[in-house]
Amino acid sequence: MLKEIFEQPKNIKDALRGRILNNPERIKISSLEEFIDKFEKAKRLVFISCGTSWHASLLAEYYFEELARIPVEVEYASEFRYRNPIINQEDIIIPVSQSGETADTLAAIKLAKEFNPFLYGVCNVVGSTISRETDSGIYIHAGPEIGVASTKAFTCQAVVMLMLAVDVGFRLRKVDLVKYNTIVNELLDLPNKVENLLKESNIVLDIANKYKDARNFLYLGRGYNFPIALEGALKLKEISYIHAEGYPAGEMKHGPLALIEEGMPVVVIAPRDEHYKKTISNMQEVISRGAKVLLITNKSTDEIYSENIWEQIEVEHISDELIPFLTTIPLQKLAYYSALDKGYDIDKPRNLAKSVTVE
Ligand code: G6P
Repeated sequence: MLKEIFEQPKNIKDALRGRILNNPERIKISSLEEFIDKFEKAKRLVFISCGTSWHASLLAEYYFEELARIPVEVEYASEFRYRNPIINQEDIIIPVSQSGETADTLAAIKLAKEFNPFLYGVCNVVGSTISRETDSGIYIHAGPEIGVASTKAFTCQAVVMLMLAVDVGFRLRKVDLVKYNTIVNELLDLPNKVENLLKESNIVLDIANKYKDARNFLYLGRGYNFPIALEGALKLKEISYIHAEGYPAGEMKHGPLALIEEGMPVVVIAPRDEHYKKTISNMQEVISRGAKVLLITNKSTDEIYSENIWEQIEVEHISDELIPFLTTIPLQKLAYYSALDKGYDIDKPRNLAKSVTVE
């Protein structure tokens, strides 16, 4: 898993390769060009997926709704397949799967097909069943992922989703040229930014060590960083067997706040975006109840507006849409070092399988 975490700059480059033309920089995804009319006319996008791929789908919801203004639903394949879902012909169904073999996602595709919508797959494994069962789609080119807990596939899924959303948004005139150029250029520079972040001192190793006896963790985020909070908590659960919950920071007062007691670790993901002040205020609420907060934010000359933060990690400044690519890295490392410290088999965690091909 550590190898896969450190491979991400290269994987991101591979996910972008051939999909951004030079002078001027323009996204060119052949499967999108071919079926652009479907996306332009789509009344709704329905993502179906499981596990980490579901978190990438949730991030895609934020991207597509913000950048392309197309309504999005994000479905757990295991729920979708047993509901009586409403699917229209103007919907685009987007199954998202690293392996392309997940049984629930395949069953959801089979059910969706009865309504005859356009199916556009997002897969890693070339030639996988899901890539064959969909009308078209895009490969994320993350390369083989061996660790059961997904890292590089998540990043590449998110890269591809952002490219798709900003390109569709630009064509639909929901994204102006300045914004489009900013995102495209920042995507091109993303491998460098991730590389620099990975090279930074091993602060996460020290943090994992300090939290090593914790039995419960809470991860909080808003906006683009809410799916990152969920994914961070999932990583910790999967490989270090520590109970962890991801929550939208604003929902915390509707339940999880009751869990906070002296010394409880809370990871707060609060980059300086439009949600910053609100998330920091949620952070203060948990600090005042005794939580040991790890704040993940981005570098800035502005103050942080809070005291008694236990640990802090600062990532580079980048547009809000791309911040999740940076905030997710320390969370992957936190899970890894926590599991390492406990001596667990990180690549093959107990009870889990890389590809869940049976129900
Ligand atoms: C398993 C894996 C997860 C993965 C999920 C969905 O639970 O352990 O890492 O996110 O399946 O898999 P898929 O291949 O469809 O993305």
